[in-house]
Amino acid sequence: MTDIFEKCYGDGGYFGALRKLDDTYFSRPILDGAAGPRMRFQGREVIMWAINSYLGLTGNARVRQAAAEALERWGTFTPMGSLMLTGNTEHHIRLEKELADFLLKPAAVLFNYGYLGVLGTISSLVGPDDVIVMDRLSHASIVDGTLLASAGRRFHPFKHNDLDSLENHLKAVNKTRKGGILIVTEGVYGMRGDLADLKGICDLKDRYEARLYVDDAHGFGVMGENGRGTGEHLGVQERIDLYFGTFAKAFAAIGGVTAGEEQPIRWIKYNARTNVFAKSLPMVYVAALSATLAEVRERPELRRRMWEVAGRLQKGLTALGYDIGDTASPITPVYVPTGSEQMAMSMMRLLREDFGIFVSAVTYPVVPPGVVMFRMIPTAAHSDQDVDQTIEAFRQMRDRMKLDLSQKPSLKNR
Ligand SMILES: Cc1ncc(COP(=O)(O)O)c(C=O)c1O
Repeated sequence: MTDIFEKCYGDGGYFGALRKLDDTYFSRPILDGAAGPRMRFQGREVIMWAINSYLGLTGNARVRQAAAEALERWGTFTPMGSLMLTGNTEHHIRLEKELADFLLKPAAVLFNYGYLGVLGTISSLVGPDDVIVMDRLSHASIVDGTLLASAGRRFHPFKHNDLDSLENHLKAVNKTRKGGILIVTEGVYGMRGDLADLKGICDLKDRYEARLYVDDAHGFGVMGENGRGTGEHLGVQERIDLYFGTFAKAFAAIGGVTAGEEQPIRWIKYNARTNVFAKSLPMVYVAALSATLAEVRERPELRRRMWEVAGRLQKGLTALGYDIGDTASPITPVYVPTGSEQMAMSMMRLLREDFGIFVSAVTYPVVPPGVVMFRMIPTAAHSDQDVDQTIEAFRQMRDRMKLDLSQKPSLKNR
C-alpha cells in the first residue's frame, strides 16, 4: 500500500527532473508581453519562433475591435451554460455556418478548445462495435479521444503516413468487422510539418468503406489557396468526411470546429460530452472569431507573407547544413545531433541568452535518442530581419559548438 501522493515527491512522470526543480526555463517558461514575433523572456527581448500564430493575427486591429465591442455588450460571462442548455445564441449559430461555408461543408460544430473538439468528435461517433485506425504519430487529443471512445481497446495505429500499413490494418479489421471504421490523421503533422497523403488515404477509405476525420490543427487557415487547409492544398477537401480546425493556431484565439455533413454533425452536437457538458464559447470569442475568419478569407497576402518568411528561414537553415527533414508546411523542424540532453539544453540556453532567439526543443521519443529537434514556426508577422538574425545565430551556434551536421537522423518508424 502506498500514498497516492508518493510519486509527487520523486522525479518520475512527465519531465520529472524539471518538475522537481520547479523549472520555468525549459518547461513552463514564463513569457512576457503580447504574443507575437518579439516577446520578453527573463527580462530580455527575444525573437519568438515557438508560437503557432501562422498568419500573424495576434493583436489584429479588426479582431480586437470586434472583441472590445462584444465585451462591452455581453461582458466576459455571456452566454452561461452549454450549447445544449442555455449557451446557444444566434451568433454561435452564425459562426458555425460561416465556418462550414468556409470549409465547403454543409455543417459545423463549435468546441471550446481544439483538444475538446477532437476528443468529443471521436468519442461521440465511435461506438462499441466500431474501430479507429489512426496514424501512429497522432496528437494526444486523438489518442485520448480513442481511449475515451468505447473502441479504446480496439484501435489500430498504422505506421506514420504509410499507406501500405494503413491498408493492412483496414484489411485486418474488415475480416472481423461488425461496425464502422473511423480513420484519423492529422493534415499537417504538427511536429515534423509533413503532410498526410490525404489523396491515398481517401482512396483507401472509399475502398474499405471507412470514414475519414482529419485533424488539421496546423493546416486550418494556413494551407491551400484560400486557407481551407490541407484538404484544399491536396485537392481532396470534398472527400474528407469530417474536418477539424483549431482556433488556437492560425486563428490566434481559442476553441475549435468540426465540419462535415449535416446529420453526423448534428449527432456530434447531441452526443459529444465535451460539448454537451461544457459551457459554450464566450461571446467575446465568438465575435472575435467571426472577424478573424473574415481576415483569413479577405487577406490572402497574409498567407503569401507567411510562406515568404518560411521559405527564407528554411532556405537559410538548409544552406548552413541544418537538416529540416521532410516538412512541406511552414513548420520548420531543425534536427541537430547532440549526443545528450545536456547538450540540447546548452544549445537552447545559448540561443536564448547570447542571441535572444526563443525556440522550443523536442527530444526522444519524438526524435531518435541523441537528437534534438528545434521546432520553429515562421509567421506572417516575422520580419526579414528576424529571420536573418536567427540564421546568423544558428551559424554561430554551429561553429561555436562544433556541431557535426553531416549525420541525418532517420525518422523512419517513429
Ligand atoms: C494536431 C493537434 N490537434 C489538436 C490540438 C489541440 O488544440 P487546442 O490547442 O486548440 O486545444 C493541437 C494543439 O496543439 C494539435 O496540434
